[in-house]
Amino acid sequence: MTLLHDYQHGTAYCRDAMPPRDPYWQKSVGPYKSYAETGSAVVSLERPDTLPEADLWKVLRSRRSRRDFRDEVMPQQTLMLLLWAAQGITQPGHWAFRTAPSAGALYPVETYVCAARVEGLEPGIYHWELPDERLALVAAMGDVAAAAQAACLDQGMVGRAAVTFIWSAVWGRSARKYGDRALRYVYLDAGHLAENLHLAATGLGLGACMIGAFLDDEMNALAGVDGEEESVVYAACVGTPRG
Ligand SMILES: Cc1cc2nc3c(=O)[nH]c(=O)nc-3n(C[C@H](O)[C@H](O)[C@H](O)COP(=O)(O)O)c2cc1C
Repeated sequence: MTLLHDYQHGTAYCRDAMPPRDPYWQKSVGPYKSYAETGSAVVSLERPDTLPEADLWKVLRSRRSRRDFRDEVMPQQTLMLLLWAAQGITQPGHWAFRTAPSAGALYPVETYVCAARVEGLEPGIYHWELPDERLALVAAMGDVAAAAQAACLDQGMVGRAAVTFIWSAVWGRSARKYGDRALRYVYLDAGHLAENLHLAATGLGLGACMIGAFLDDEMNALAGVDGEEESVVYAACVGTPRG
């Protein structure tokens, strides 16, 4: 048995042996994380009044991983559209449903933006703050693209991208309900929102590539998360494709 099998069997739902309903994760975790509330500089992003038109079927047909990008600067509205596509709130209220589904509507995934070339943004790491739809500066970093590339096993596309999105999991949000099974759901959640972003990027004529290959400690440090309560699970780089 590998660790993989241990986990898959250990977290399986079986008719005669369901896991206990009182998971071990005791710490209470809020649904939103905010750096702005602790004094970080904030950039409010304007979402365009009307969303761009795109033919879903053509977008599905043309989506491809793109790894070579031009030096172009990404307009703030484009960044806003990408963030909204991945995780925008589409039905405000107690549960605040979003563009992508989430197990139990618990939304354990946080988004960090490595902004290398975004109109009006100092290069650095930003946190996408919901429900306010704003960016909070986590760390200004002139060489953010190089730092992100290094953390992503030196994949050159990350250094060339205008923006690299980093997604982390706040484990407690999901584990309080699902215990160890939360791991399955968190990665599925991340996959859903990442594909939203990939399709939105394609629809906007941009190129994107998902990133699962990264040095965990370095990515956690880059996003400024501890790797225990919150860990990086996925990333994607986006830019104007070359060719
Ligand atoms: C979970 C996951 C992790 C990935 N990680 C990387 C990565 O670290 N580097 C990379 O160049 N591509 C990565 N990719 C992109 C795949 O290589 C790509 O999706 C695959 O080759 C199929 O090509 P397509 O996306 O153009 O259809 C990843 C894709 C997924 C779904």
